Amino acid sequence: MTVVGLDLGGTKIAAGAFDGERLLSEVVLPTPKEGGMRVVEALAEAALRAEAEAGVRAEAFGLGTPGPLDFARGLIRFTPNIPGLKDFPIRDLLRERLGRPVHLENDANAAALAEHHLGAARGEESSLYLTVSTGIGGGVVLGGRVLRGVRGQGGELGHITLLPGGPACGCGLEGCLEALAAGRALEREAGYAYGLPVDTRELFRRYGAGDPKAERILLQAARYVGLGLASLVKAFDPGAVVVGGGVALNAPEGYWQALEGAYRHYLQGWEVPPLRKALLGARAGLLGAALTAYLEGDGAR
Ligand code: BGC
Ligand code: NA
Ligand code: ZN
Repeated sequence: MTVVGLDLGGTKIAAGAFDGERLLSEVVLPTPKEGGMRVVEALAEAALRAEAEAGVRAEAFGLGTPGPLDFARGLIRFTPNIPGLKDFPIRDLLRERLGRPVHLENDANAAALAEHHLGAARGEESSLYLTVSTGIGGGVVLGGRVLRGVRGQGGELGHITLLPGGPACGCGLEGCLEALAAGRALEREAGYAYGLPVDTRELFRRYGAGDPKAERILLQAARYVGLGLASLVKAFDPGAVVVGGGVALNAPEGYWQALEGAYRHYLQGWEVPPLRKALLGARAGLLGAALTAYLEGDGAR
């Protein structure tokens, strides 16, 4: 069985054909800034290109998308970082375009599933995954299955509140982990500190050059991630904790030390699950989306 996985991100869309073991192709397109229907068109285009590149016809598609989902109706409830997708019937719109079944999963849930089965948490009974990218997403895998929750909002770990009254979050609340430590949050803090736009890459560069402002911003965010993870360990006590996402994986060593330091600090006196870097890197979401279609299409879950 061949499927195509699709990973919808805040800045790019990735698509790849998958045969159950490996990716046969990989296509990347920018995410249309207008959001809404343009996103559907771009996803369909990416999917068809991924099929063409691999020379296959997929039986089904798996889409990893940000936001809490209404799995029964195939809706995105809302996306903090992409406009025009509120109560958006993405599954059916995409199925109409592609003429084949589309299976949905939350993007970070999908990545969690991939890391659990194929990556850093392979062999564990359960695992907890956090992706630090434009936003912060999470996934909880228990007994090989990802926790969706009763309302499709299980594993939304980026929106746990860590600082009441803190910075505004894209979800409408304030002081969420995402609002304190995601890529957008780093850029916001850097903007305040330097009085000009500074992206995460530039912030890492400044940190590497010994800039104290960059150090304060980066290590503060890392500590929030560690603190959040330590709290989540008390909820789930997973076999392993895995951290991935473009921001974390490209961050300097000092970021990881601060993250792990806070993680251990807030677990003093407790059993500490191993903390690991994601193994599948930027492909975790794509592989997880493909895996979702593969497992569901097979009736294997
Ligand atoms: C969304 C999550 C998503 C994460 C990473 C968050 O803002 O609420 O659903 O997993 O961003 O894309
Ligand atoms: Na999630
Ligand atoms: Zn939030």
